[in-house]
Amino acid sequence: MAATAAPSLQDEILQLKKERNAIILAHNYQIREIQEIADYVGDSLGLAYKARETNADVIAFCGVHFMAETAKIVNPDKTVILPDVEAGCSLEQSCPGPQLEAFLQANAEKNYYVIAYINCSAHVKALSDCICTSGNAVKIVNAAPADRPILFVPDQNLGSWVMEQTGRQMDLWKGSCYVHVEFTRDAIAAIQAEYPGTPVVAHPECTYAVRLLADEVCSTEKMVHYCRDHPSDTFIIVTEAGMLHRLEREVPTKKFIPGPTGHCACAECRYMKMNTLEKLHRALDTLSPELTMDETIRARAEKPILRMLELSR
Ligand code: 13P
Ligand code: SF4
Repeated sequence: MAATAAPSLQDEILQLKKERNAIILAHNYQIREIQEIADYVGDSLGLAYKARETNADVIAFCGVHFMAETAKIVNPDKTVILPDVEAGCSLEQSCPGPQLEAFLQANAEKNYYVIAYINCSAHVKALSDCICTSGNAVKIVNAAPADRPILFVPDQNLGSWVMEQTGRQMDLWKGSCYVHVEFTRDAIAAIQAEYPGTPVVAHPECTYAVRLLADEVCSTEKMVHYCRDHPSDTFIIVTEAGMLHRLEREVPTKKFIPGPTGHCACAECRYMKMNTLEKLHRALDTLSPELTMDETIRARAEKPILRMLELSR
């Protein structure tokens, strides 16, 4: 009699997911094995919408801490778990809430309209007027009141790209993504020389010098649409390497070349890569680590997120 194959870890996670009435949300930078079993894989904006709309009792968020935190802010009554609570973000770290609070107090006479890139803590969100993602930042800045100066936190590269797109002046917090600033103009120009005429698609967290080389600058979700619709069959992708899994699954007939950094052939976010199938399994099994937060901060942070969701419909 043939032996029955043992269920794979992926099968076990899917079984646990059913028992828990959970949904698995995964960012485009997650490892292939997590993307394969997620109910939804997308960018920060798509994930925020999915988190808001789900009927599941448990949200297993495979991304980084601020993304799971955003899901909890808009779903206070649900259990939100993440595989690794240490999965942070250099942008979030570059703008601590108390520092932003002190800055706003010291500059109170400016009456800033604060737009916070979603890559920030709940405390920073609670101090903001509106949240944005890379997918809707241009729309959000265009919708900001014309009679107030804008303070854009925490990503200076996304902020300067949005200024170029909108013509709107903003004061920029000096944060950056440690992964995207590693891409250099020289390293990308060398790849372009190897693949002449190949479109370069870059994330707006890249530096100005790198963005200048790009044929398209956009969020990770828009990269999927751009590559699907563009006549070229090969693309140089200048963002975190996990994006290639998503592109290869969604646009299997085309070829994607990872953008090289100054010292390696592709860039990985060490925080995004902290999530593994083993940790996801444990999280669903034990319903921990679970996101919890102070209700006053949560309620204040929810308003600018809902404003963003409303404005970017
Ligand atoms: P996206 O919203 O474009 O997926 O970007 C999130 C992110 O963390 C990029 O580094
Ligand atoms: Fe944060 Fe950069 Fe990692 Fe995105 S890639 S989660 S911005 S550290």
